[in-house]
Amino acid sequence: MRIFSGIQPTGRKHLGNHIGAIRGYVEGQDRGDPAIYCIVDLHAITVSYEPAELRRYVYDTAAMLIASGLDPDRCILFRQSDVREHTELCWLLASVTAHGDLNRMHQFKEKSARQRELVSAGLFLYPVLQAADVLAYRADEVPVGDDQRQHLELTRDVAIRFNATYGDVLTVPEHRIPAVGARIMDLQDPTAKMSTTSSEERGRIYVDEDEKAIVKKIKSAVTDSGAEVRRGPGKDGISNLIEIYAVTRGVTPEDVEREFDGQRYGDFKAAVAEAVADYLRPVRERYAELRPDDAALEATLAAGAARARDLAAATLADVRHAMGVGAP
Ligand code: TYM
Repeated sequence: MRIFSGIQPTGRKHLGNHIGAIRGYVEGQDRGDPAIYCIVDLHAITVSYEPAELRRYVYDTAAMLIASGLDPDRCILFRQSDVREHTELCWLLASVTAHGDLNRMHQFKEKSARQRELVSAGLFLYPVLQAADVLAYRADEVPVGDDQRQHLELTRDVAIRFNATYGDVLTVPEHRIPAVGARIMDLQDPTAKMSTTSSEERGRIYVDEDEKAIVKKIKSAVTDSGAEVRRGPGKDGISNLIEIYAVTRGVTPEDVEREFDGQRYGDFKAAVAEAVADYLRPVRERYAELRPDDAALEATLAAGAARARDLAAATLADVRHAMGVGAP
């Protein structure tokens, strides 16, 4: 079972990233043969960004993933731009990607609407590079949150079209989206997903957030005028907190509804805050130890890239051969 996933180095990652995806990466590393995790700096340059910050953010993200439980001896952790096969494969796959499909991508529509100066062609091609990331490793399974469902569907379509055109070269991957916590919502606007770019700071909890801030943000989370701790229509805020509590305490949403039956929102929120603080504490502490050592993080990423390159190069050789590209 080959497992692959990617994560953007966009500054501080949030609780949604952790619950929706990183938790799945950690779980995957003992099933993966191997499990491969990539910090996608080339995706991050498709919107406006600061070059000096990008390098720092890659280290932030690497340290955060290791602090969350990724063990570079049990998985391959690397930076996308270190393995040039990704960009070559992106171009080759662009020839079997439908322009109309890219036009339909929700994330492209949302992100392009937010750009003030330039909607880059890179932003449009973003999903093709993502397909290349996955297909270069012939991954069987891709752990992601719910918002990546459409990109994964496109990846599958691209692989299927490639195989139909050039022969059976690529593996058609499956997504692995968690049953609970696949879409953690913004605490201030529980109809929108928690995200790095949208809304206010109070709406998201960072993985390295201090405990006082966690309590404050959860206590001020938007709920509803009702009084029942249960999921349901019109109860987006409470439903979100129920999912967060369930994942961080390792129980089911039904357990949470039973446990808090008849209790007030204020008491429930206090319990959620404590659960989130307990969940993130070991990650924050380990992060603080790991993050200062840029050289060690760089060495880990470089070693990961060397291993990743071998795997990707083998796929690229097959793809080039099948497509008639390059010397025979
Ligand atoms: P990124 O960096 O935005 O997000 C990383 C992972 O976090 C998940 N996620 C969430 N899960 C639950 N609730 C939320 N509110 C939430 N917000 C984000 C995302 O689904 C993702 O799994 N395009 C990808 C990066 C990528 C990739 C890949 C992923 C590039 N190449 C190949 C898989 C395979 C992205 O922007 O992730």
